[in-house]
Amino acid sequence: MNPDLNRLHPYPFEKLAQLKAGITPDKALKHIALSIGEPRHAPPGFVLEELVRSLDKIANYPLTKGIPELRQSIANWLCRRFKLPVDSVDIEKNILPVNGTREALFAFAQAMIKRDDNALVLMPNPFYQIYEGAAILAGAEPCFYNTTAETNYLPDFEAISDEHWRRCQLIYICTPGNPTGAVISKQQMQWLINKAEKFDFIIASDECYSEIYFDDNKPPCGLLEAAAEMGNSEYKRCVVFHSLSKRSNLPGLRSGFVAGDAQIMQAFLKYRTYHGSAMSGHHQYASICAWDDEQHVTESREIYRQKFNTVLSILSPVMDVKLPDAGFYLWPRTDMSDTDFAQKLFAQQNITVLPGQYLSRIADNINPGENHIRMALVATPEETTEAAHRIKHFLETR
Ligand SMILES: Cc1ncc(COP(=O)(O)O)c(C=O)c1O
Repeated sequence: MNPDLNRLHPYPFEKLAQLKAGITPDKALKHIALSIGEPRHAPPGFVLEELVRSLDKIANYPLTKGIPELRQSIANWLCRRFKLPVDSVDIEKNILPVNGTREALFAFAQAMIKRDDNALVLMPNPFYQIYEGAAILAGAEPCFYNTTAETNYLPDFEAISDEHWRRCQLIYICTPGNPTGAVISKQQMQWLINKAEKFDFIIASDECYSEIYFDDNKPPCGLLEAAAEMGNSEYKRCVVFHSLSKRSNLPGLRSGFVAGDAQIMQAFLKYRTYHGSAMSGHHQYASICAWDDEQHVTESREIYRQKFNTVLSILSPVMDVKLPDAGFYLWPRTDMSDTDFAQKLFAQQNITVLPGQYLSRIADNINPGENHIRMALVATPEETTEAAHRIKHFLETR
């Protein structure tokens, strides 16, 4: 067997299950899970209708590259949302549909990493654990850059040494960040693009939370937008990962896309053709409807905005919570250990939150997830409000 499989860490939810094992919370209180980042607003009905309408496509093998109509919808969305020059996004060269960004983020490293003793993949810490597993199974060393309160939970790219940049083949960035919600600025992205050119590495920007933001006048910047604005409209060394899971409340559709540098995308397509990861035809048609519509996205954003307003008004007097730049997580500091907090909250209030240390590793002698918890405001407004009241009560009576 591949020995690298033994280097994979247990997933955060396995550790959480262990932490909760043997505890029996008060059954009078309904369980509320704030731990899982699964969107739970209603999926758009017209997308589901199209999914059913195009079920007959199941009779054919889909192409890995996807149908041109889907790639065109994605190109239109990208150009609209990130103000890209229309002629800079060629649906034959720059776009590939994927079965959600999770598999794509993983597959990308397998296709891009040149195996040698020095191969290094940089990634944020705390982080989405797929980046780490992808690097390990691609035969590279995962290397973490911390995102802490001291830098407003943003990466401090300038603190990374030239030695690391030299070894770096691929850097994952996550903006808006999971779990921090921090959005990397255009200037920071452009700084990184210049570094990528100097040291010849690839930037993979995980932007799957980009459509959940609070200030309508300040949608998060995307990597392709930053590249185009600095004259890199061929998107050299840049790829972005987008998803319908969070944007359109369709996590079960498994639909997203990767877009960017034509040369990279060509190699990625080759890899995917062998890997056999084409999106089913009916999912492609349903995805077109979702990418073509913004109304449902605006409505969902408004629900998040209201939930954040309510939860913050309840919790801010008792806890270090603040509105993130974007995304649907709160990432407060705790004044006891994060694992104790999660365990006691579950025991006393039947609420599950994720201890921050399960989302991070020790790097530069600190574990940046420690003494933080992640709360996903994905449930109904009623449930999230109820959860906030119970957390407040927990903090006031412990
Ligand atoms: C940061 C981040 N990237 C990617 C994903 C994967 O999303 P999907 O595969 O549904 O597109 C998630 C899901 O939780 C995530 O949090």
